[in-house]
Amino acid sequence: MAVEIQVQGQGTLPFSVRVREETRADHERAERATFVSDLVGGRLSRDGFATFTSQLWFLYQALDAGAARLRQDPVVGPFLDPRLDRGAALATDLETLVGSGWQDRIRPLPSTMAHATRIATLADEWPAGYLAHHYLRYLGDLSGGKVLGKAAQRTYGLTDAGVRFYRFEAIPSGREFKDHYRRLLDQAPWSEDERQRILAEVALGFRMSGAMFEELAGAVDAA
Ligand code: HEM
Repeated sequence: MAVEIQVQGQGTLPFSVRVREETRADHERAERATFVSDLVGGRLSRDGFATFTSQLWFLYQALDAGAARLRQDPVVGPFLDPRLDRGAALATDLETLVGSGWQDRIRPLPSTMAHATRIATLADEWPAGYLAHHYLRYLGDLSGGKVLGKAAQRTYGLTDAGVRFYRFEAIPSGREFKDHYRRLLDQAPWSEDERQRILAEVALGFRMSGAMFEELAGAVDAA
């Protein structure tokens, strides 16, 4: 049963709807980022795509590790499905995109470092804050991520290794998975104060992603 909260001026909305609606403008900005539209439009060089993928490695090291640490948490644990883990897929992708010894050849940009550090700190200190970033990244990957993966496949001629990050092979229906995740968001026993803090943290996550896209755009050449 969805827990519903009366929000002034918005009627009664389940929390999952509030998260989506209240970050709609942030999402539109993320979709319109030059780096993202260059990737979708086939204008990003293969090296640029490799640099992007290397930034994801640092981000998902923090995300996957946070999930492993918090899986026993009574409130956020049920969201942390191990089928979401991206570490193995990213390792295969980087082997293809960067080549052997990739671990020693990739570096996090300052914006990536800041986001990964934030995620790791929250996993230690505030599980629901960690979940804000978990929602931002994994639900995004299961949605617009599909568009990015198809674009990369087309532009760089990659069929498997190189674009495994975008495939959640163990999750047959992204739609069902997201519906289940949204039900968990609606049912979690957070106070209104906590919900406000989570919303602010999702918005911060979008800004941190935006900063990474901007830095990436400056760091890589177009195709
Ligand atoms: C070309 C780029 C993108 C496209 C085309 C796109 C498209 C979409 C679409 C169609 C949905 C709705 C899916 C559904 O209702 O099941 C969605 C959801 C979402 N996207 Fe994106 N997206 C893009 C980029 C991003 C980026 C860069 C982020 C994060 C940094 C992001 C985060 C999210 C999140 C968190 C959701 C889940 C919203 C919810 O249902 O609660 N997206 N995206």
